Amino acid sequence: MHWPVKGKYKDTWKALEKLYKDGRVRAIGVSNFHVHHLEDLMKDAETKPMVNQVEYHPRLSQRPLLRYCKEQGILLEAWSPLMQGKELLSHELLTELAGKYGKSPAQIILWWDLQHGVVTIPKSVTPARIRENADIFDFELSAADMERIDGLNLDRRVGADPDNFNF
Ligand SMILES: NC(=O)c1ccc[n+]([C@@H]2O[C@H](COP(=O)([O-])OP(=O)(O)OC[C@H]3O[C@@H](n4cnc5c(N)ncnc54)[C@H](OP(=O)(O)O)[C@@H]3O)[C@@H](O)[C@H]2O)c1
Repeated sequence: MHWPVKGKYKDTWKALEKLYKDGRVRAIGVSNFHVHHLEDLMKDAETKPMVNQVEYHPRLSQRPLLRYCKEQGILLEAWSPLMQGKELLSHELLTELAGKYGKSPAQIILWWDLQHGVVTIPKSVTPARIRENADIFDFELSAADMERIDGLNLDRRVGADPDNFNF
């Protein structure tokens, strides 16, 4: 379910639950749900969302939401993980870490997602970048470097806030 439209998302969820119970889909999930949306949805749900896809990158690290989803067994998935190519890819810290680990700033960000247990879906139309974005399974960030990247959070969005979206 793409967005938590007030007054509608519970009915939509019931339809998804039916598809799941009937065996017509293997997994059902939501997108752009804050903690309060998930809490409200789950008051009446028979099946918990299996995934919640939200804007997530080092400028919007969503710690309370990530903690909540982990507690509930809901997989968090990052959209716009590279902040749509804005500001982060040339950031001083990420450039420094790219040099230290022999990776690109994009690869550092994408691995930071995975090391936090967040599924990531970067988008590129450039074949070399698609390959680069998949080539991240041969290194690990130290705990100290993870914390330094966590420190970039400014709760800054490039997309809409689900609480203030004009449907
Ligand atoms: N659920 C939702 O509400 C929602 C909302 C927004 C987006 N999404 C999904 O999230 C996915 C990704 O989000 P997004 O496209 O907004 O942002 P993104 O993946 O953070 O950034 C895409 C931009 O980064 C560039 N890029 C990709 N890999 C790069 C690399 N290795 N080095 C340098 N630049 C790189 C791309 O350029 P090139 O393409 O020119 O290579 C493109 O301009 C999409 O599949 C989208 O459908 C979901």
